Amino acid sequence: MTGKRRWPRVIGHRGAALSAPENTLAGLREAAALGVAWVEFDVRLTRDERAILLHDDTLERTTTGRGPASLLSFEEIRSFDAGAWFGAEFRGERVPSLEETIELLAELGLGAVVELKPAPGAQEATGRVVARLVAKRWPASLPPPLLSSFKPEALAAARAAAPELERALLVGAVPRGWREQVAALGCCSLHLDQRRVDRAVLAELTGAGLAVFAYTVNLPERAQQLFSWGVDAVFSDCPDRVAAGLGARGI
Ligand code: G3P
Ligand code: MG
Repeated sequence: MTGKRRWPRVIGHRGAALSAPENTLAGLREAAALGVAWVEFDVRLTRDERAILLHDDTLERTTTGRGPASLLSFEEIRSFDAGAWFGAEFRGERVPSLEETIELLAELGLGAVVELKPAPGAQEATGRVVARLVAKRWPASLPPPLLSSFKPEALAAARAAAPELERALLVGAVPRGWREQVAALGCCSLHLDQRRVDRAVLAELTGAGLAVFAYTVNLPERAQQLFSWGVDAVFSDCPDRVAAGLGARGI
């Protein structure tokens, strides 16, 4: 476990998922326009092991494609539209590569939580490929990124490939063996479902020097409550609204 660093308070979830299509470059631009300092997005691999931004295992909810993304090549996935489902004004958005995403983050000055979202069976490859790429391409002008995942195997592979990158374990409720798990993976942070935050356990986590982030918080009053309990940061689909509700202590 590393020492606590300073984290942003409100992180744009999947970009700014309520006002632009999730996990797209338009979404990152929107998040920056709303004033956030950090965003979160989901990364997985194509059949040809290119890292792309996509939340679901399959393409249909957020693109014009169909089926598992892990079975298609990057070129095939690039032929689909990733914005039209959200609104006609976003027609033409493509599924971004991680490389172009990092370039845009640098241009916008946005920090990021990079969530490893492996397809079934691709935990190791996803952790390895994404960590290598982030380690190689992350601009020195940005705050160091945080790699997160629900999949311990992906985090272990990321650690082996780029031990210098900070890691976070994603969970629903806090697992009984959290101490051992975060120690085994060398995580500095635990990311919890905001509906399952327990104050007593939270005090144990922060007391152990872990940063605690909560997802997904779209009500300012709830964010305020979580911060008063000791949560370090929240992921929000509407980071502007949540930050505005926090007043001067916002983003
Ligand atoms: O990283 C926090 C949050 O994004 C985890 O849940 O399903 O939105 O990726 P999900
Ligand atoms: Mg996510």
